[in-house]
Amino acid sequence: LRSASAKRLLQWYDANARDLPWRREPNAYRTLVSEVMLQQTQVATVLPYFSKFIDRFPSLEAVAAANEQEVLSLWQGLGYYKRARSLHQTCREAAANGLPQTSTSLQKLPGIGRYTARAVASIAFSEPVACVDGNVERVLARYYRLELSGSRLRTECERRSALTMPRQRPGDWNQALMELGASVCTPRSPKCEVCPLAAECGAFGSRQTCEFPRPKQKPHPQSRFHVCVVPLYDGRLGVRQITEGRWWRSLWEFPKTDLEPNEQIEDALLRLGAKRCEPLGIHNHSVTNHRVTLHAYLCRRRLPGLTWLSQEDLATLPMPAPQRVVLRMAAGALPQ
Ligand code: ADE
Ligand code: SF4
Repeated sequence: LRSASAKRLLQWYDANARDLPWRREPNAYRTLVSEVMLQQTQVATVLPYFSKFIDRFPSLEAVAAANEQEVLSLWQGLGYYKRARSLHQTCREAAANGLPQTSTSLQKLPGIGRYTARAVASIAFSEPVACVDGNVERVLARYYRLELSGSRLRTECERRSALTMPRQRPGDWNQALMELGASVCTPRSPKCEVCPLAAECGAFGSRQTCEFPRPKQKPHPQSRFHVCVVPLYDGRLGVRQITEGRWWRSLWEFPKTDLEPNEQIEDALLRLGAKRCEPLGIHNHSVTNHRVTLHAYLCRRRLPGLTWLSQEDLATLPMPAPQRVVLRMAAGALPQ
């Protein structure tokens, strides 16, 4: 950015920055928690979770002393639970050895990628490194009319942002670019008339704001079919703890299996040990590039190998969001 643009951007940020709880009384721990929660999740969604988390765990040491189930329970509903497990592990390592203070060493911690490491290092430790997410990419791709996409766009944005970053305020600079992308330079209809960069913005100058950034090719979505059974016996529901997978490991679920090509639903249910089931409903959801159709059934039998819980007990266990939907479908069939 030209230095006049850079100065106007920081002035705009000083006047317009949202009053977010992690910007009040910032410290390295709160910055870390907020940046991990903000991975893959919008600010509005994060707000109540951040407050709850900080109330329960006011310090890194408090997280380190807690058990994983409790950390996961506070995360319940935020999604991408691997983040919670990694944060827990990071806090344990940092409680023992101290939190690293540079972006390169932060990036070696579990669950801390390039972006989060740079965000924490610039905001909490004033290290002059650029951090670039989708919002920042959009601003810079438009400002410079960058014809790139994917990782080459990311690298070019990091390079250009670092070139104009004011050395005294790296964290504010990064957050100003994020904030501009989130509130002014929005994907569909950017508010260029109130944008502090408009005078020198390339895409605005040529009336091509929505032609940048260039789209990248996405993999085709894949269809998946799952069959899930809610076992009901003696007023209790049968669940199991998920033991593998990247997303949902150690959360709880009803027995569930993939429906193989050309397989009948009854046969998939038999594989789960379930017979004479009653249909509960169908739920569609997306996980990464999978479009999942989940067929849910109720089975009034004592299926083997499960943990049997009342509806109340289940409410406090962490479950993947689609499993909560299945639980709600089943609620109508349960004794009250
Ligand atoms: N998204 C990721 N980090 C953020 C931050 N510090 N402020 C606002 N949005 C963000
Ligand atoms: Fe984005 Fe418009 Fe500002 Fe350019 S002038 S950075 S397109 S909001």
